[in-house]
Amino acid sequence: MPRHVAFIMDGNGRWAKKRGLSRNVGHKKGGDTFREIARYAKDCGIEYVTFFAFSTENWKRPKEEVDALMKLFSEYLDEAESYAKEKTRLIFLGDKSIFPREMSDKMTDLEKKSRQFSDFTLSLAVNYGGKDDILQAAKRAAKLCFDRDISPSEIDEKFFAGLLYTYAVPDVDLLIRPGGERRLSNFLLWQCAYAELYFSDILWPDFSKKDFDEAVNYYRGRNRRFGNVEG
Ligand code: IPE
Ligand code: IPE
Ligand code: MG
Repeated sequence: MPRHVAFIMDGNGRWAKKRGLSRNVGHKKGGDTFREIARYAKDCGIEYVTFFAFSTENWKRPKEEVDALMKLFSEYLDEAESYAKEKTRLIFLGDKSIFPREMSDKMTDLEKKSRQFSDFTLSLAVNYGGKDDILQAAKRAAKLCFDRDISPSEIDEKFFAGLLYTYAVPDVDLLIRPGGERRLSNFLLWQCAYAELYFSDILWPDFSKKDFDEAVNYYRGRNRRFGNVEG
């Protein structure tokens, strides 16, 4: 089984358009799929799941859509209080400072309260960009050098990975992108260095447990060499 599975939840808008509904209805349905698939992955014994919910580029969308997405996110934060019962560690990836204080405090609080759970970790990427992640880590590394807390030679892969938003999760084993596009759209650039990539034309609101099984089966058929020769 893959240890860490990441999802680019794409296709909500097209799913709604096909049905003559507003894009925001698609996002709501996508939220239901997110809850269902997260729970299923946990039941399957996956240790880490990460979902891309909102990118640093998604702010370009019409205000009405951004507002609707933020409302859905805020509702999820309220609901997530009950996740402690499910022994799920929650992590929010991305720059939290852009959100209203009340929301960023809630995220930090949920992270703190769930830190003790180690069997299942759910990361939600909001206002996340792979380039932004690498840049903020580089800035912190530079500051540590400037303050003479470390010397540049100490910055190896392990140290740098420890400065990324994902410091608490291992690299991605399997990346799943439904919605028909074959690109990363600035998701976990560093963390997907050796991820197996699985693309599907199914739109995210239609993505089912069976589709998840198919992706995992695809993963199991891969021969991961990590640059080495076949052993
Ligand atoms: C993914 O669905 C959700 C977000 C990016 C927030 P989209 O909204 O991108 O749906 P499509 O790609 O337009 O169909
Ligand atoms: C990627 O989807 C971002 C999220 C799923 C949050 P997009 O719909 O924003 O990606 P592009 O614009 O098609 O590359
Ligand atoms: Mg899209």
